[in-house]
Amino acid sequence: VIDAEQGVSEQTRRHAYLLHLLGIRQVVVAVNKMDLAGYDEARFAAVAAEIRRYLGQIGLTPSHVIPLMARSGENVAKPAPAMGWYPGPDLLGALDRLTPAPGADELPLRLPIQDVYKFDARRILAGRIESGRLSVGDRLLFSPVNKSARIATIEAWPAPATPILHAHAGCSVAITLDEPLFVERGHIASHVEAPPVETDVFRARLFWLGRRPLALGQKLKLKLATEESEVSVQSIERVIDTTSLTPRAATLVARNEVAEVVLRSRDMLALDAADLCPRTGRFVLVDDFTLAGGGIVSMRDYADQRELITRRATNLKRVEHGVSLAQRMDRNGHKGGVLWLTGLSGAGKSTLAIAVETELFARGYQAYVLDGDNLRFGLNANLGFSPEDRAENIRRVGEVAALFARAGFIVLTAFISPYRSDRDRARQAAGSRNGGEGGSFHEIYVKASLEACETRDPKGLYAKARTGEIRNFTGVSAPYEPPEQADLVVETDRESVESSVRHIVDYVTGCFRLAPSR
Ligand code: ADX
Repeated sequence: VIDAEQGVSEQTRRHAYLLHLLGIRQVVVAVNKMDLAGYDEARFAAVAAEIRRYLGQIGLTPSHVIPLMARSGENVAKPAPAMGWYPGPDLLGALDRLTPAPGADELPLRLPIQDVYKFDARRILAGRIESGRLSVGDRLLFSPVNKSARIATIEAWPAPATPILHAHAGCSVAITLDEPLFVERGHIASHVEAPPVETDVFRARLFWLGRRPLALGQKLKLKLATEESEVSVQSIERVIDTTSLTPRAATLVARNEVAEVVLRSRDMLALDAADLCPRTGRFVLVDDFTLAGGGIVSMRDYADQRELITRRATNLKRVEHGVSLAQRMDRNGHKGGVLWLTGLSGAGKSTLAIAVETELFARGYQAYVLDGDNLRFGLNANLGFSPEDRAENIRRVGEVAALFARAGFIVLTAFISPYRSDRDRARQAAGSRNGGEGGSFHEIYVKASLEACETRDPKGLYAKARTGEIRNFTGVSAPYEPPEQADLVVETDRESVESSVRHIVDYVTGCFRLAPSR
């Protein structure tokens, strides 16, 4: 609603931007108080043009812009003789012409679990179906636990004469499963074929209402459907001035500002991209017990991590080795472990890894380099550079590196490995699994500014990325998440190759050499 006299104000723009933020696509604009503007057609045309222009910039086209007078109801639900120049429809007519949103029934099933009740011998899962439908006998997948079971019954009290077999979006239901599963409040049930995303990091467009500004690194409580989780603000990508729509870099988001941020949670979350599944794609943030903001989820640049944490094989049993890691270490005279080099393309990862490998070999170490380009010729030949493919690339390399480490080697990996979640998984593969056996994991940040890497451009790829010939190029059109706490940082735009190599070799000899007594 715009005041005809005042025209498009800052508040109008902010409201319009909120529609955009919330993913609302159908807009009717009412230009109110036309009497105060003398029912003037030219005044109306000017206001209408301005709001159409603004909405157009954020991708919205109003279905109607209507001059009206709410006080008298003219052009709300009755004709407005003083504005005979306006052909119609009136406001009610315009609302009648909106296309009903595709029914939530037609979207994939999302049943966020509200509570689990123990009722006589049964465990009953209760929640509201946010979208989709379900039937007795359907196989449900619970996220983020990745467990599935069939719906045995849909319960109701008092028990109905004929059993309930189906339910749809909007219904609050209580169901039982055909096998006992560990399910709790916050988990989301879906069908197996169309599950939500599983991730511990996502992009959000949010509207901040908190009294104190949202800050980089701040911890907040995220509430999404029935899930609650602690998240931290990993980055503030841009704050958007809703008046001019110009984005600006910032480290704080003030009250009433709109921003695009990246949020990271400690635990794996089940959620959806808002454009695909709106009800499980929006959230609120709680700061210090008060509601401080809300927003919608975007998975742009981020992978669904479900595939990476799902094990399909069953009936597995570990085989023990006849040679222990200690025996291997004794023979080698050093420990096994992983030196994980991460950094932008052109930062010098491969150069340093190869030089360190050569130096370590000369000193009698068992060292081996796993290099991004090399592995993409073979083991990872079927992977590209989408977020999902990069994540799978790093998952495989993390596992292979862990195997090498368990075989007693010092493994140097040279991969961009742009995502923290992926590097953390590689760390887990090398360290915590197998009861910690397999040696250690050391993250080495091969740091060089984007400008330096682009100036070097050893493979000519930055040039191609800038012209758009290569898409999803790290640093240019795909993200790089630097390590938060690298074990070692070498700054290749500040020191020579020799100096970086020396730093790494010194680090290795410090960590990996066995005490002479052994
Ligand atoms: S990672 O992101 O999945 O870790 P990886 O280290 O295996 O990447 O491979 C990076 C190498 O692939 C780069 O050094 C470059 O030679 C090449 N490459 C080709 N396309 C891209 C791209 N879109 N982004 C980054 N590197 C690319």
